[in-house]
Amino acid sequence: MSLTVEQLTRTFNDVTAIQAIDLTIHEGEIICLLGKSGCGKSTLLRTLSGLDLAYEGTVSFQDTPLTGVRDEIGIVFQEPRLLPWLNVLENIRFGLKQPNQATIKRVDRFINYVGLTGKAHLYPKALSGGMSQRAAIARALVCDPEVLLLDEPFSALDHFTKLELQDLLLKIQGKYNTTMVMVTHDIDEALYLADRIVVLSSQPGTIQDIIEIDSPRPRTRTSRDLQQVKQKILTTLHI
Ligand SMILES: Nc1ncnc2c1ncn2[C@@H]1O[C@H](COP(=O)(O)OP(=O)(O)OP(=O)(O)O)[C@@H](O)[C@H]1O
Ligand SMILES: [Mg+2]
Repeated sequence: MSLTVEQLTRTFNDVTAIQAIDLTIHEGEIICLLGKSGCGKSTLLRTLSGLDLAYEGTVSFQDTPLTGVRDEIGIVFQEPRLLPWLNVLENIRFGLKQPNQATIKRVDRFINYVGLTGKAHLYPKALSGGMSQRAAIARALVCDPEVLLLDEPFSALDHFTKLELQDLLLKIQGKYNTTMVMVTHDIDEALYLADRIVVLSSQPGTIQDIIEIDSPRPRTRTSRDLQQVKQKILTTLHI
């Protein structure tokens, strides 16, 4: 897996959302994008997904320019975006571009894997926020992505559910070596999950700092080392 952006700039009318971003994402690593509201995190993630192609610079996947969305790059948004007229099983199956016997079997496997055993027949209105986001993660996983892009996937969830789903991401990464790029507002979340935290500055969004976190996993959320890094990030963000 290789995913690289070079001199990436995205302008909307007269607003430069991100400017001259250079970043190489390594196989199996977890990157968290951190920065103040409006600094261009979602814009950067959308260009990595192939959903937005109106940028200047280069976005390369497997050393070739990314020209659109691909099965190898899965996306999870802040809202689960489940189809209300489909149940959990059908919503997850909807993620499959080419349903066949083998891929449909994977749907059952991932329903259990993300912790939705026994919930396959439920419709979205009967799900809690956490259950919905588990389904959205499973929908992304059934395509067997090499990269998972996540845009504030847990920001609407209660604290305890959020911690559980962070551990689910680590479990996925540990089992499938999935590369992850996750946008978050939550410094503690970034410290718990990331191999590297990319701190973006605002208006225009540029890379202000890249912080490597080499604490072994599982990490202790309250460890002194992590709290020291937190202070450094707050200083970088002028908070
Ligand atoms: N489709 C669009 N049309 C016009 N301007 C846009 C569009 N998308 C983003 N922008 C602008 O680009 C800048 C970056 O937006 P972006 O959504 O990437 O920020 P963000 O860091 O994800 O913010 P938040 O943390 O609030 O989600 C903002 O100034 C925003 O107004
Ligand atoms: Mg955003």
